[in-house]
Amino acid sequence: MSGRPSAKPAAGAPSSKVKTLTIDDRLVSAREDESILDAARQNGIQIPTLCNLDGLTPVGACRLCMVEVKGSSRLFASCVTMVGEGMEVVTDSERLQKYRKTIVELLFSERNHVCAVCVSNGHCELQNLAQTLGVTHLTVPYLHPKLPVDASHERFVNDHNRCVLCQRCVRVCGEVEGAHTWDLRGRGIDTRVITDLNQPWGSSETCTGCGKCVHVCPTGALTEKGKSIREMAKQSRFLPYLTMMREDRSE
Ligand code: SF4
Ligand code: SF4
Ligand code: FES
Repeated sequence: MSGRPSAKPAAGAPSSKVKTLTIDDRLVSAREDESILDAARQNGIQIPTLCNLDGLTPVGACRLCMVEVKGSSRLFASCVTMVGEGMEVVTDSERLQKYRKTIVELLFSERNHVCAVCVSNGHCELQNLAQTLGVTHLTVPYLHPKLPVDASHERFVNDHNRCVLCQRCVRVCGEVEGAHTWDLRGRGIDTRVITDLNQPWGSSETCTGCGKCVHVCPTGALTEKGKSIREMAKQSRFLPYLTMMREDRSE
């Protein structure tokens, strides 16, 4: 019998209760407030992700981390689904591979990803996912939207053409820096990241210029001005450290 999948609860003190489940036929155990993704990673099982980043609240936005749970015909986003007692999770199947490839194809088709002229070429998480999943060409039409580039900030650039709407910028700015400069506006393919009340980034009164959003951005959407491809490799390792320090202080 499979445990009933449930959504990730609000952050709080870690639970001491442990659940036992199988992931890809391996018997594993995890705290009841841990996600399937957490449990898989702790046991060396890799699940593709894009919006998820250690240190930020998971939002289940990209759907790349979907897994199958025996007993249900639905797919579940493993980053926001908690482990359950007796759950039988499958992280890799023909269905999941097809689903993940389609998501990556849609992400490439919705904006203008011309890797050869992108400062993130060679260290882009979207590009890496395409390579890992074997996406060599698109089976859906390119939309070629005419999207703006906001270069009004003195140090940073926001190129909407490369954005995958992962919301990492929104979360790091609100949850870690506490500035709440970023937000999302619009719906569906018209959704855009915005700064303040949709003002140019350079005129934002809340942006502290810390650059955290730039370094958690998985693609070439947020970059530093004047940096070469090699210099613009993102450095998001500060996040687990900051999160750990914050947890230590609150104890
Ligand atoms: S953001 Fe990534 S996928 Fe998009 S153009 Fe740049 S390197 Fe290519
Ligand atoms: S700007 Fe970057 S971090 Fe922000 S939503 Fe777009 S891809 Fe994600
Ligand atoms: S990593 Fe789980 S939905 Fe994006």
